[in-house]
Amino acid sequence: MTEPEAFFTFQESLPRQGPGDRASLQAALMVVGVGRDQRICDAGCGTGADIAGLLDWAPEGHVTAIDTHASFIDKARARHAGDARVTARVQDMHDLTGPFDLIWCAGALYFMGLPDGLAVFRAALAPGGALIFSHPAFFTDTPSDAARAFWDGEDASVMNEADLCDAVRVAGYDIHLATRLPVNAWEAYYTPMEQRVSEWRASAGPAMTKVLDAAQAEIDQWRAVRGETGYLQFVAYPK
Ligand SMILES: C[S@@+](CC[C@H](N)C(=O)[O-])C[C@H]1O[C@@H](n2cnc3c(N)ncnc32)[C@H](O)[C@@H]1O
Repeated sequence: MTEPEAFFTFQESLPRQGPGDRASLQAALMVVGVGRDQRICDAGCGTGADIAGLLDWAPEGHVTAIDTHASFIDKARARHAGDARVTARVQDMHDLTGPFDLIWCAGALYFMGLPDGLAVFRAALAPGGALIFSHPAFFTDTPSDAARAFWDGEDASVMNEADLCDAVRVAGYDIHLATRLPVNAWEAYYTPMEQRVSEWRASAGPAMTKVLDAAQAEIDQWRAVRGETGYLQFVAYPK
């Protein structure tokens, strides 16, 4: 097994592939007031952890869940097999076309870069449509080296909260809510991950051992710097 294969095998075994939980989804959707029949896109859906929560708000609507990684999409499809309200497909977010009443993007917009991602989603939103996304931010103007190092290797330019909000406005959005994603939402990702690391440790080959080591290091690193950095979750509307 190669290291990339081990990475995806590990990630696919987790309930979600990035920070987030039902409570923070609820808090954001409450602001939007999602209609029962809305057209929703879950952009960068991973294995589809958030689809059920989205459908709770739009039980007569439809969720189009997209991700570039095919086996994540297989898992998302399996989670919602037989549910005509869900279409899960391999698709790059860059190629997203709407119209959608809501685009939900948990921890994935930054793969496109903030300005490009915001432009792509604006074009895919129906008039009056809302974008909810979470994005890396520093919670201090003077992040420690450890907080900066947490984002090393990620394709994200990380700003403080004020600068990030400005960048979202400059990209042509009104911000209705910007809140720090709470610790519980991060632990909804990291606690099962840590458990998986300890379960798989004994039987892991060399590639998986590297992946498990990196995962544990990331968990430890985040717990050490979580007061200084994390995600801001935005509810935003194109102006
Ligand atoms: C941090 S994970 C978050 C997954 C999911 N939203 C969740 O919270 O569990 C980011 C996801 O974005 C996907 N992704 C990255 N770049 C993408 C792109 N250009 N188009 C579609 N999906 C992309 C990755 O495959 C991954 O599943």
